[in-house]
Amino acid sequence: MAYAALRSIGAYAPSKILTNADLATMVDTSDEWITKRTGIKERHIAAEDETTSDMGVAAAKLAIERSGIDASEIDMVVCATISPDYFCMPSTATIISNKLGLPNVTAFDISAACTGFVYILSIAKAFIESGMKKNVLIVGAEKLSSITDYTDRGTCILFGDGAGAAVISATDKKQEAIIDVNTGADGTYADLLMTPNGGTGSPHDSLDAEAGACFMQMKGNETFKVAVRTLTKDVVEILEANKIDSSEIKHFIPHQANYRIIKAVGDALKMKEEQVVVTVAKYGNTSGASIPMAMNDIYENGTLKKGELLLLDAFGGGLTWGSALVPFSPLK
Ligand code: ACO
Repeated sequence: MAYAALRSIGAYAPSKILTNADLATMVDTSDEWITKRTGIKERHIAAEDETTSDMGVAAAKLAIERSGIDASEIDMVVCATISPDYFCMPSTATIISNKLGLPNVTAFDISAACTGFVYILSIAKAFIESGMKKNVLIVGAEKLSSITDYTDRGTCILFGDGAGAAVISATDKKQEAIIDVNTGADGTYADLLMTPNGGTGSPHDSLDAEAGACFMQMKGNETFKVAVRTLTKDVVEILEANKIDSSEIKHFIPHQANYRIIKAVGDALKMKEEQVVVTVAKYGNTSGASIPMAMNDIYENGTLKKGELLLLDAFGGGLTWGSALVPFSPLK
């Protein structure tokens, strides 16, 4: 049986930065409030003509270059996004594969909001272990600024744009393999986070972009509580199932939604400060891109080393959730 290994990571953040001070000129808020309630100081915002696929391609190029695998050997591209280039078709994954010049791939998108990257990791793992694919490019890419209501102070302070990508490839070495990915969903919480318009759930004659219905809407406080509960439970389950102690985790990378959520979960799991990766201050919440962007940060600052064990943990709209135990197994 083939195993699936995480070979590389890459990310991209657009150059434009939106600070808390900038937001305070747009809505009734302050740097102090945003910092205290979320830990976010700034977020990156894509240029008007910069698409989700453009950002995904920038991240993917780095991931492929660092993987030691030739681009022509990539046989599948999966993109996690809730802000695709086009809402129905073509998929952002097909656009990314075309821009990268990958001729022989299966390509598709998935929608699992902030859990998207963990979901596509599980898909890559399953395709590789089944023998159907050998080298899978997974991309989490978001232009959330395009679906954010910049008159709603409850949401616009949270979100940013960016992309992260990884190459997952087949290996026969068990010690290199992704140990486990555990994903779940509960639609009874669907109304906590949604973009109400733009699909068959809302008839065309009710479309009203000015009322903000095409933008993300969130019951922030309720989401916060469910997030802490879900993220903690998720980690306890995956560690127990694999008989791994939290002290064996070198880098715990939770979804970067809010520092208070990250802190509460880290404390509940008795993680030491140095185990927990926190990038929310500089990127905000980039949904499906948040975990790979954080992974890329520790790769680029030299903290992430070959063979180290990563624990990923995410939750998002749906609700969806997922966790993964992944050794970093670069070829070079
Ligand atoms: N600036 C100043 N005041 C604000 C702001 C703001 N930006 N936003 C809300 N307030 C006010 C509210 O109006 C309220 O005022 P009131 O007491 O007079 O009614 C007060 O602050 C408290 O509001 P809460 O909503 O209770 O504040 P809370 O501490 O919950 O923080 C926040 C809000 C930051 C949104 C938090 O609930 C949160 O982070 N929730 C989780 C969000 C999340 O993680 N989403 C992840 C999934 S995203 C995805 O899947 C795409």
